[in-house]
Amino acid sequence: MVGNDDLAARMDTSDEWIRTRTGIRTRHFVSAGMPTSLLAAEAGARALQSAGTADVDAVVLATTTPDRPCPATAPEVARRLGLTGRPAFDVSAVCTGFLYALTTAAGMIASGAAEQVLVIGAEAFSTLIDPQDRSSAVVFGDGAGAVVLRAGEPGEPGALGRIVLGSDGSLADLITVRAGGSEQPRPHPDADPADRYFSMRGREVFGHAVTRMTESARAALAHTGWQPDDVDRLVGHQANLRILHAVAEQLDIPVERLVIHLDRVGNTAAASIPLALAHAHETGELTPGARVVLAAFGGGATWGATALTWPALKSA
Ligand code: COA
Repeated sequence: MVGNDDLAARMDTSDEWIRTRTGIRTRHFVSAGMPTSLLAAEAGARALQSAGTADVDAVVLATTTPDRPCPATAPEVARRLGLTGRPAFDVSAVCTGFLYALTTAAGMIASGAAEQVLVIGAEAFSTLIDPQDRSSAVVFGDGAGAVVLRAGEPGEPGALGRIVLGSDGSLADLITVRAGGSEQPRPHPDADPADRYFSMRGREVFGHAVTRMTESARAALAHTGWQPDDVDRLVGHQANLRILHAVAEQLDIPVERLVIHLDRVGNTAAASIPLALAHAHETGELTPGARVVLAAFGGGATWGATALTWPALKSA
């Protein structure tokens, strides 16, 4: 676990700044050489156990930090889980990745291609961050969370409502790693060394995140027919406490109904929503029948939301 004071000891920041500007107190960083697939497999194993099954028909992994640029990481995750032979692939939508992966899994189930899909969000974001970039280094953390999505009846607890998704490629520069892809495959002699690290224009991201998470949550609510007051828990992407409060206020949902997990783990990108769900289930904040809204915004830019009624689960 890495506390704010640990970061303040190695860069120009403070516990007070991080807590008041973000709400974050601690986060986890992988140790050197620990791949995303290991985090993902651990979360996947727990989700399988919680769902009472050892097998699924497919594995969908949302990640921004694959083990390697090629191939995808999901087949390795499936192998680690004893699921070799099952279709397994990655989905890339940064902090909205889990909702995009969930949509993909729901589509596989609706088309009859699968009955049960393991959906994982896993990130080793610390491997992308310039350790001296105080604006990003204090915000992000590493982690993984997972769910098993299965075929069922539309009205039953756990059934997903319409998943509302969107993107705007003109905002790609707001959250980016410039080098290492086809556009800039090898370090150019004139390239800025910072290009190989993650960079974020935080203040601009903040505004777009509030607007898009609010709009997509509203659209998801409209599909269910729920009013804001019907929502028991709002599980927003855990980027910044001030973003979550602003979204709740704009939606007219009391801030007490927000699930808050970022104080312990920071912004874990695609892992953020499944980790927050697991946390809220463990603490008893999410009880069977609770009406839940999920909403996220991330690099791309991408965004999305959905609504569901929380199912009865064995364990987290
Ligand atoms: N410690 C101390 N000071 C810091 C700092 C840090 N870690 N990071 C930035 N600052 C300073 C800046 O240099 C700036 O100083 P100045 O006023 O002297 O120029 C000041 O704090 C304000 O910087 P700013 O970037 O405007 O801060 P902010 O209030 O917007 O907070 C973020 C920065 C990153 C926490 C915030 O913008 C944020 O959470 N953005 C959204 C992030 C997000 O959601 N990302 C994921 C979406 S997928």
